[in-house]
Amino acid sequence: MALHSLFFFTFLTFSSSFHGISAVKYEVINEATTTPGGIRFTNEIGIPYTKKIMGTINEFVWSVIFQENNPSDRKPVEIVKLYIKEYKGAEAITWGDNINVSSIYLEGYKGDLKWEFTSLLYHELTHVFQWNGEGQTPVGLVEGVADYTILKANYFPPAFAKPGDGDKWDQGYDFTARFLEYCDGITPDFVPKLNKKMRYAFNINYFKDLTGKPVEQLWRDYKAKYFTARKYGH
Ligand SMILES: *[C@@H]1O[C@H](CO)[C@@H](O)[C@H](O)[C@H]1NC(C)=O
Ligand SMILES: [Zn+2]
Repeated sequence: MALHSLFFFTFLTFSSSFHGISAVKYEVINEATTTPGGIRFTNEIGIPYTKKIMGTINEFVWSVIFQENNPSDRKPVEIVKLYIKEYKGAEAITWGDNINVSSIYLEGYKGDLKWEFTSLLYHELTHVFQWNGEGQTPVGLVEGVADYTILKANYFPPAFAKPGDGDKWDQGYDFTARFLEYCDGITPDFVPKLNKKMRYAFNINYFKDLTGKPVEQLWRDYKAKYFTARKYGH
């Protein structure tokens, strides 16, 4: 009897803490099992790893990137479906709460495929959970936030932009990610605050609201900071 109670207690503790962490479900569907890329997915990554890492990344995006500790701050997502699918043109595409990863891309990647796939999922899952001003946020900023997650997760490749790189603040991807990192240095927790503001709309003045400076001024300061640093060889 005592033993039974102990088991019961353990089960309850486990299940309640599990639901406390995340109620999102993850589904992985390999629609390309017989193609070279689909076979490579099965051999080098696999569905169990993919589901596990989706949970890890989900938690990271909520707690570290957006600091949405209150569930009411989060974008409501019940289930994220990830398809491995044979198509050309893009590495991956996020549509609603779903992600399609190209088996042709997986087939052709040279190097540690599991690492690359994980890095890709940091980017794509950020799209699933980020606020985009109901579509008003400039696409370069949306992509910059997704790459900012890759940067903070330490899953960026050697070719990732360096601080000070780029021509404009909304150039997108790694360039905008580095600029957001700079903004974080000006105003602590800049990215979570900006994301929160973008829940229902986008306004360029959000940058000024958060830092005291218009975005163009921030960009000039950012470029000037790293221009000087490079000139003197730091
Ligand atoms: C992604 O793949 C699913 C499953 O094959 C398909 O139904 C959907 O149309 C695809 N979406 C895009 C945007 O390619
Ligand atoms: Zn993207």
